[in-house]
Amino acid sequence: MRKIYLDSAATTQVRPEVIKVMTDVLTNEFGNPSSTHNYGRSAKSLLESSRKAIAAQLNVAPGEIVFTSGGTEADNLVINSCVRDLGVTRIISSAIEHHAVLHTLEELATDRGVKIDQVAIKSCSNIDYAHLEQLLSDKQHKTLVSLMHVNNEIGTVLDIDRVANMCKEHDALFHSDTVQSIGHYDVDLSTTLVDFAAVAAHKFHGPKGAGFAFIRKNTGLKSLIFGGSQERGMRAGTESTHNIVGMAEALRISYENLEEEQAYILSIKKHFIEGLKDNIEGISFNGSCENHENSTYTLVNVCLPIPPEKALMLQFQMDLMGVACSKGSACQSGSDKGSHVLSALLSEEDLKKPSLRFSFSSFNTKEELDYVVSVLADFVNS
Ligand SMILES: Cc1ncc(COP(=O)(O)O)c(C=O)c1O
Repeated sequence: MRKIYLDSAATTQVRPEVIKVMTDVLTNEFGNPSSTHNYGRSAKSLLESSRKAIAAQLNVAPGEIVFTSGGTEADNLVINSCVRDLGVTRIISSAIEHHAVLHTLEELATDRGVKIDQVAIKSCSNIDYAHLEQLLSDKQHKTLVSLMHVNNEIGTVLDIDRVANMCKEHDALFHSDTVQSIGHYDVDLSTTLVDFAAVAAHKFHGPKGAGFAFIRKNTGLKSLIFGGSQERGMRAGTESTHNIVGMAEALRISYENLEEEQAYILSIKKHFIEGLKDNIEGISFNGSCENHENSTYTLVNVCLPIPPEKALMLQFQMDLMGVACSKGSACQSGSDKGSHVLSALLSEEDLKKPSLRFSFSSFNTKEELDYVVSVLADFVNS
Protein backbone atom coordinates (compact mmCIF):
# COMPACT_ATOMS: atom_id res chain seq x y z
CA MET A 1 0.00 0.00 0.00
CA ARG A 2 1.19 3.55 -0.72
CA LYS A 3 1.84 5.73 2.29
CA ILE A 4 1.67 9.47 1.86
CA TYR A 5 2.26 11.76 4.81
CA LEU A 6 0.35 15.03 4.59
CA ASP A 7 0.11 15.92 8.26
CA SER A 8 3.24 18.00 8.83
CA ALA A 9 1.31 20.62 10.81
CA ALA A 10 0.69 17.86 13.39
CA THR A 11 4.30 16.77 13.35
CA THR A 12 7.11 16.47 10.84
CA GLN A 13 9.41 13.71 9.73
CA VAL A 14 12.73 14.04 11.59
CA ARG A 15 15.57 14.86 9.21
CA PRO A 16 18.27 12.15 8.94
CA GLU A 17 20.95 14.71 9.84
CA VAL A 18 19.04 15.45 13.05
CA ILE A 19 18.77 11.78 13.92
CA LYS A 20 22.50 11.50 13.41
CA VAL A 21 23.45 14.28 15.84
CA MET A 22 20.92 13.03 18.37
CA THR A 23 22.27 9.50 18.19
CA ASP A 24 25.81 10.82 18.64
CA VAL A 25 24.75 12.71 21.76
CA LEU A 26 22.86 9.72 23.18
CA THR A 27 25.86 7.51 22.57
CA ASN A 28 28.75 9.74 23.55
CA GLU A 29 27.42 12.71 25.49
CA PHE A 30 25.27 11.09 28.12
CA GLY A 31 26.59 13.13 31.03
CA ASN A 32 24.21 15.24 33.10
CA PRO A 33 24.81 18.88 32.07
CA SER A 34 24.70 19.86 35.74
CA SER A 35 27.55 17.52 36.71
CA THR A 36 30.88 19.18 37.19
CA HIS A 37 33.04 16.35 35.86
CA ASN A 38 34.24 15.96 32.33
CA TYR A 39 31.07 14.20 31.06
CA GLY A 40 28.84 16.85 32.56
CA ARG A 41 30.92 19.76 31.31
CA SER A 42 30.92 18.34 27.83
CA ALA A 43 27.11 17.92 27.84
CA LYS A 44 26.73 21.43 29.26
CA SER A 45 28.88 22.83 26.52
CA LEU A 46 26.68 21.17 23.87
CA LEU A 47 23.60 22.54 25.55
CA GLU A 48 24.97 26.06 25.61
CA SER A 49 26.21 25.95 22.04
CA SER A 50 22.72 24.83 20.98
CA ARG A 51 21.22 27.74 22.88
CA LYS A 52 23.67 30.17 21.28
CA ALA A 53 22.93 28.86 17.79
CA ILE A 54 19.16 29.13 18.29
CA ALA A 55 19.48 32.62 19.79
CA ALA A 56 21.74 33.77 16.94
CA GLN A 57 19.21 32.53 14.40
CA LEU A 58 16.46 34.61 16.00
CA ASN A 59 18.79 37.54 16.72
CA VAL A 60 18.32 37.49 20.49
CA ALA A 61 20.56 36.82 23.50
CA PRO A 62 21.15 33.18 24.55
CA GLY A 63 19.79 34.01 28.02
CA GLU A 64 16.42 34.79 26.43
CA ILE A 65 15.93 31.16 25.35
CA VAL A 66 14.46 28.77 27.95
CA PHE A 67 14.31 25.14 26.88
CA THR A 68 11.01 23.36 27.49
CA SER A 69 9.37 20.08 26.53
CA GLY A 70 7.65 21.75 23.58
CA GLY A 71 5.13 24.35 22.53
CA THR A 72 2.45 23.57 25.10
CA GLU A 73 4.82 23.98 28.03
CA ALA A 74 6.23 27.21 26.60
CA ASP A 75 2.73 28.67 26.16
CA ASN A 76 1.80 27.62 29.69
CA LEU A 77 4.99 29.00 31.20
CA VAL A 78 4.58 32.42 29.63
CA ILE A 79 0.86 32.91 30.14
CA ASN A 80 0.68 31.57 33.69
CA SER A 81 3.74 33.45 34.85
CA CYS A 82 2.46 36.69 33.34
CA VAL A 83 -0.57 36.40 35.60
CA ARG A 84 1.20 35.07 38.68
CA ASP A 85 4.36 37.18 38.55
CA LEU A 86 3.69 40.24 36.42
CA GLY A 87 0.24 41.18 37.67
CA VAL A 88 -1.61 40.63 34.40
CA THR A 89 -5.35 40.72 35.05
CA ARG A 90 -6.66 40.72 31.49
CA ILE A 91 -5.66 38.68 28.46
CA ILE A 92 -6.68 39.55 24.93
CA SER A 93 -6.66 36.52 22.68
CA SER A 94 -8.80 34.92 19.97
CA ALA A 95 -11.18 32.01 19.53
CA ILE A 96 -8.90 30.35 16.99
CA GLU A 97 -5.81 29.89 19.15
CA HIS A 98 -4.36 26.44 19.84
CA HIS A 99 -5.74 24.61 22.89
CA ALA A 100 -2.35 25.08 24.59
CA VAL A 101 -3.36 28.74 24.87
CA LEU A 102 -7.15 28.50 24.98
CA HIS A 103 -7.34 25.95 27.79
CA THR A 104 -4.70 27.83 29.79
CA LEU A 105 -6.83 30.95 29.49
CA GLU A 106 -9.95 29.06 30.60
CA GLU A 107 -8.12 27.86 33.72
CA LEU A 108 -6.89 31.36 34.50
CA ALA A 109 -10.37 32.80 34.07
CA THR A 110 -11.86 30.21 36.42
CA ASP A 111 -9.09 29.94 39.01
CA ARG A 112 -7.65 33.44 39.08
CA GLY A 113 -10.52 35.56 37.80
CA VAL A 114 -8.49 36.79 34.84
CA LYS A 115 -10.61 38.73 32.35
CA ILE A 116 -10.41 37.19 28.89
CA ASP A 117 -11.32 39.33 25.88
CA GLN A 118 -11.55 37.69 22.47
CA VAL A 119 -10.62 39.84 19.53
CA ALA A 120 -13.09 39.45 16.66
CA ILE A 121 -12.11 37.27 13.69
CA LYS A 122 -13.13 38.48 10.23
CA SER A 123 -14.63 36.14 7.64
CA CYS A 124 -11.25 35.99 5.86
CA SER A 125 -9.95 34.58 9.19
CA ASN A 126 -7.74 37.58 9.96
CA ILE A 127 -8.13 39.21 13.31
CA ASP A 128 -10.02 42.48 13.32
CA TYR A 129 -7.16 44.93 13.98
CA ALA A 130 -9.57 47.80 14.68
CA HIS A 131 -11.23 45.71 17.37
CA LEU A 132 -7.84 44.88 18.86
CA GLU A 133 -7.02 48.59 18.95
CA GLN A 134 -10.31 49.26 20.69
CA LEU A 135 -9.70 46.52 23.28
CA LEU A 136 -6.18 47.78 23.89
CA SER A 137 -7.34 51.32 24.52
CA ASP A 138 -9.21 50.17 27.61
CA LYS A 139 -6.40 50.69 30.14
CA GLN A 140 -8.12 49.54 33.32
CA HIS A 141 -6.17 46.28 33.47
CA LYS A 142 -2.58 45.21 33.12
CA THR A 143 -2.90 43.37 29.81
CA LEU A 144 -1.26 40.50 27.98
CA VAL A 145 -2.09 39.89 24.31
CA SER A 146 -1.70 36.26 23.20
CA LEU A 147 -2.15 35.74 19.46
CA MET A 148 -0.63 33.02 17.34
CA HIS A 149 1.61 33.87 14.39
CA VAL A 150 0.44 31.11 12.02
CA ASN A 151 -2.78 29.22 12.64
CA ASN A 152 -2.22 25.46 12.76
CA GLU A 153 -5.60 24.52 11.24
CA ILE A 154 -6.26 27.08 8.54
CA GLY A 155 -2.84 28.66 8.09
CA THR A 156 -3.79 32.31 8.59
CA VAL A 157 -0.73 34.48 9.13
CA LEU A 158 -0.93 37.25 11.73
CA ASP A 159 0.70 40.60 11.01
CA ILE A 160 2.89 40.01 14.04
CA ASP A 161 4.85 43.27 13.73
CA ARG A 162 1.68 45.29 13.56
CA VAL A 163 0.32 43.61 16.70
CA ALA A 164 3.67 43.98 18.50
CA ASN A 165 3.72 47.70 17.71
CA MET A 166 0.12 48.14 18.83
CA CYS A 167 0.94 46.40 22.11
CA LYS A 168 3.97 48.64 22.65
CA GLU A 169 1.88 51.74 22.01
CA HIS A 170 -0.72 50.63 24.52
CA ASP A 171 1.72 49.35 27.09
CA ALA A 172 0.51 45.75 26.85
CA LEU A 173 2.66 42.62 26.93
CA PHE A 174 2.62 40.44 23.80
CA HIS A 175 3.03 36.68 23.63
CA SER A 176 2.87 34.90 20.30
CA ASP A 177 2.52 31.17 19.79
CA THR A 178 5.04 30.82 16.97
CA VAL A 179 4.92 27.02 16.93
CA GLN A 180 3.84 26.92 13.27
CA SER A 181 6.05 29.79 12.11
CA ILE A 182 9.53 29.52 13.60
CA GLY A 183 11.48 27.21 11.31
CA HIS A 184 9.13 28.13 8.42
CA TYR A 185 9.47 31.92 8.30
CA ASP A 186 12.39 34.21 8.78
CA VAL A 187 11.70 35.67 12.22
CA ASP A 188 14.02 38.33 13.65
CA LEU A 189 13.08 38.95 17.26
CA SER A 190 15.30 42.01 17.49
CA THR A 191 12.87 43.82 15.19
CA THR A 192 9.66 41.84 15.78
CA LEU A 193 8.98 43.15 19.24
CA VAL A 194 7.11 40.31 20.93
CA ASP A 195 7.84 39.94 24.61
CA PHE A 196 7.42 36.17 24.55
CA ALA A 197 7.14 33.36 22.03
CA ALA A 198 6.58 29.60 22.10
CA VAL A 199 8.38 27.17 19.79
CA ALA A 200 8.28 23.38 19.20
CA ALA A 201 11.07 21.41 17.48
CA HIS A 202 8.84 18.70 16.03
CA LYS A 203 7.18 21.19 13.68
CA PHE A 204 10.45 21.80 11.81
CA HIS A 205 11.81 18.27 11.42
CA GLY A 206 13.25 18.08 14.91
CA PRO A 207 12.40 15.72 17.77
CA LYS A 208 9.17 15.64 19.78
CA GLY A 209 9.41 16.69 23.41
CA ALA A 210 11.69 19.66 22.75
CA GLY A 211 10.92 23.33 22.38
CA PHE A 212 11.63 26.64 23.97
CA ALA A 213 10.13 29.82 25.26
CA PHE A 214 11.61 33.09 24.11
CA ILE A 215 11.43 35.41 27.11
CA ARG A 216 12.68 38.91 26.48
CA LYS A 217 15.27 40.12 28.96
CA ASN A 218 14.09 41.76 32.19
CA THR A 219 10.43 40.89 31.78
CA GLY A 220 10.47 39.25 35.22
CA LEU A 221 8.90 35.90 34.34
CA LYS A 222 9.47 33.06 36.81
CA SER A 223 9.51 29.28 36.66
CA LEU A 224 6.43 27.08 36.82
CA ILE A 225 8.45 23.98 37.61
CA PHE A 226 10.47 23.83 40.81
CA GLY A 227 13.49 21.71 41.64
CA GLY A 228 17.06 22.17 40.46
CA SER A 229 18.47 25.41 39.15
CA GLN A 230 18.60 24.41 35.48
CA GLU A 231 17.77 27.01 32.83
CA ARG A 232 18.95 29.75 35.19
CA GLY A 233 16.13 28.84 37.53
CA MET A 234 13.47 29.20 34.84
CA ARG A 235 12.75 25.51 34.36
CA ALA A 236 13.89 22.84 36.80
CA GLY A 237 14.75 19.33 35.62
CA THR A 238 17.66 17.67 33.84
CA GLU A 239 17.85 19.03 30.32
CA SER A 240 17.08 16.66 27.46
CA THR A 241 20.46 17.16 25.81
CA HIS A 242 19.95 14.96 22.75
CA ASN A 243 16.57 16.58 22.02
CA ILE A 244 17.94 20.09 22.42
CA VAL A 245 20.96 19.43 20.21
CA GLY A 246 18.61 17.83 17.67
CA MET A 247 16.33 20.86 17.81
CA ALA A 248 19.23 23.27 17.19
CA GLU A 249 20.37 21.17 14.23
CA ALA A 250 16.83 21.01 12.81
CA LEU A 251 16.46 24.78 13.12
CA ARG A 252 19.84 25.36 11.48
CA ILE A 253 18.95 23.18 8.49
CA SER A 254 15.48 24.74 8.18
CA TYR A 255 16.97 28.21 7.91
CA GLU A 256 19.85 27.15 5.73
CA ASN A 257 17.34 25.91 3.13
CA LEU A 258 14.50 28.28 3.94
CA GLU A 259 13.99 30.13 0.66
CA GLU A 260 14.39 27.04 -1.47
CA GLU A 261 12.01 24.98 0.65
CA GLN A 262 9.46 27.80 0.94
CA ALA A 263 9.37 28.13 -2.86
CA TYR A 264 9.16 24.38 -3.37
CA ILE A 265 6.40 23.80 -0.81
CA LEU A 266 4.41 26.77 -2.11
CA SER A 267 4.66 25.36 -5.62
CA ILE A 268 3.26 21.98 -4.53
CA LYS A 269 0.53 23.72 -2.53
CA LYS A 270 -0.52 25.71 -5.61
CA HIS A 271 -0.41 22.58 -7.73
CA PHE A 272 -2.60 20.75 -5.20
CA ILE A 273 -5.14 23.59 -5.07
CA GLU A 274 -5.39 23.66 -8.88
CA GLY A 275 -5.85 19.87 -8.95
CA LEU A 276 -8.58 20.02 -6.33
CA LYS A 277 -10.42 22.88 -8.06
CA ASP A 278 -10.23 21.14 -11.44
CA ASN A 279 -11.50 17.81 -10.18
CA ILE A 280 -13.93 18.52 -7.36
CA GLU A 281 -16.79 20.84 -8.14
CA GLY A 282 -18.01 22.81 -5.16
CA ILE A 283 -14.86 22.34 -3.05
CA SER A 284 -14.07 25.34 -0.89
CA PHE A 285 -11.01 26.45 1.05
CA ASN A 286 -11.43 27.20 4.73
CA GLY A 287 -10.10 30.41 6.25
CA SER A 288 -9.05 31.68 2.80
CA CYS A 289 -6.09 29.29 2.89
CA GLU A 290 -5.88 29.41 -0.93
CA ASN A 291 -4.86 33.06 -0.62
CA HIS A 292 -1.08 32.82 -0.55
CA GLU A 293 -0.65 36.32 0.83
CA ASN A 294 -2.79 35.63 3.84
CA SER A 295 -2.06 32.03 4.59
CA THR A 296 0.99 29.88 5.21
CA TYR A 297 2.54 27.92 2.34
CA THR A 298 2.55 24.75 4.41
CA LEU A 299 -1.12 23.74 4.52
CA VAL A 300 -4.52 23.60 2.89
CA ASN A 301 -7.83 23.09 4.68
CA VAL A 302 -10.70 22.09 2.42
CA CYS A 303 -14.44 21.79 2.88
CA LEU A 304 -15.93 19.03 0.74
CA PRO A 305 -19.34 19.10 -0.93
CA ILE A 306 -20.60 15.78 0.36
CA PRO A 307 -23.53 14.80 2.57
CA PRO A 308 -23.01 13.85 6.24
CA GLU A 309 -23.73 10.11 5.65
CA LYS A 310 -20.89 9.92 3.17
CA ALA A 311 -18.67 12.16 5.25
CA LEU A 312 -18.48 9.45 7.92
CA MET A 313 -16.54 7.27 5.48
CA LEU A 314 -14.14 9.99 4.33
CA GLN A 315 -11.30 9.59 6.82
CA PHE A 316 -11.60 5.84 6.66
CA GLN A 317 -11.27 5.98 2.88
CA MET A 318 -8.24 8.29 2.99
CA ASP A 319 -6.60 5.99 5.50
CA LEU A 320 -7.40 2.95 3.41
CA MET A 321 -5.74 4.56 0.41
CA GLY A 322 -2.64 5.34 2.48
CA VAL A 323 -3.17 9.10 2.79
CA ALA A 324 -2.37 10.57 6.21
CA CYS A 325 -4.14 13.88 6.65
CA SER A 326 -6.06 15.49 9.44
CA LYS A 327 -9.71 15.97 10.07
CA GLY A 328 -10.19 19.70 10.05
CA SER A 329 -13.90 19.72 10.48
CA ALA A 330 -16.52 20.31 13.06
CA CYS A 331 -18.48 17.53 14.67
CA GLN A 332 -19.14 14.57 12.44
CA SER A 333 -19.49 11.86 15.02
CA GLY A 334 -20.98 11.84 18.49
CA SER A 335 -17.63 11.39 20.22
CA ASP A 336 -15.86 14.21 18.43
CA LYS A 337 -16.26 17.80 19.53
CA GLY A 338 -14.95 19.05 16.20
CA SER A 339 -12.70 21.95 15.41
CA HIS A 340 -13.13 25.10 17.49
CA VAL A 341 -11.33 26.98 14.72
CA LEU A 342 -13.76 25.99 11.98
CA SER A 343 -16.69 26.48 14.34
CA ALA A 344 -15.56 30.09 14.81
CA LEU A 345 -15.41 30.68 11.05
CA LEU A 346 -17.79 28.57 9.00
CA SER A 347 -21.51 28.90 8.42
CA GLU A 348 -23.85 26.32 9.98
CA GLU A 349 -24.28 24.81 6.54
CA ASP A 350 -20.55 24.43 5.85
CA LEU A 351 -19.97 23.03 9.32
CA LYS A 352 -22.19 20.11 8.38
CA LYS A 353 -19.85 19.25 5.51
CA PRO A 354 -16.57 17.44 6.18
CA SER A 355 -13.29 19.34 6.13
CA LEU A 356 -9.77 17.99 5.82
CA ARG A 357 -6.40 19.57 6.50
CA PHE A 358 -3.48 18.60 4.29
CA SER A 359 -0.13 19.92 5.45
CA PHE A 360 3.11 19.65 3.53
CA SER A 361 6.85 19.48 3.87
CA SER A 362 9.75 19.40 1.45
CA PHE A 363 9.58 15.59 1.60
CA ASN A 364 6.31 15.66 -0.40
CA THR A 365 6.13 15.56 -4.19
CA LYS A 366 3.67 16.78 -6.83
CA GLU A 367 3.15 13.19 -7.85
CA GLU A 368 1.97 12.32 -4.33
CA LEU A 369 -0.43 15.22 -4.41
CA ASP A 370 -1.81 14.15 -7.80
CA TYR A 371 -2.54 10.76 -6.28
CA VAL A 372 -4.34 12.39 -3.33
CA VAL A 373 -6.42 14.56 -5.69
CA SER A 374 -7.49 11.45 -7.60
CA VAL A 375 -8.36 9.52 -4.40
CA LEU A 376 -10.37 12.44 -3.08
CA ALA A 377 -12.09 13.16 -6.40
CA ASP A 378 -13.04 9.48 -6.85
CA PHE A 379 -14.55 9.46 -3.40
CA VAL A 380 -16.42 12.76 -3.70
CA ASN A 381 -17.65 12.17 -7.23
CA SER A 382 -18.66 8.52 -6.75
C1 LIG B 1 0.04 26.42 17.08
C2 LIG B 1 0.43 25.36 18.06
N1 LIG B 1 0.67 25.68 19.33
C3 LIG B 1 1.06 24.78 20.24
C4 LIG B 1 1.22 23.47 19.88
C5 LIG B 1 1.66 22.48 20.92
O1 LIG B 1 3.01 22.14 20.76
P1 LIG B 1 3.60 20.80 21.39
O2 LIG B 1 2.96 19.67 20.65
O3 LIG B 1 5.07 20.87 21.15
O4 LIG B 1 3.27 20.79 22.83
C6 LIG B 1 0.97 23.06 18.57
C7 LIG B 1 1.09 21.63 18.18
O5 LIG B 1 0.17 21.05 17.64
C8 LIG B 1 0.57 24.03 17.63
O6 LIG B 1 0.32 23.72 16.35
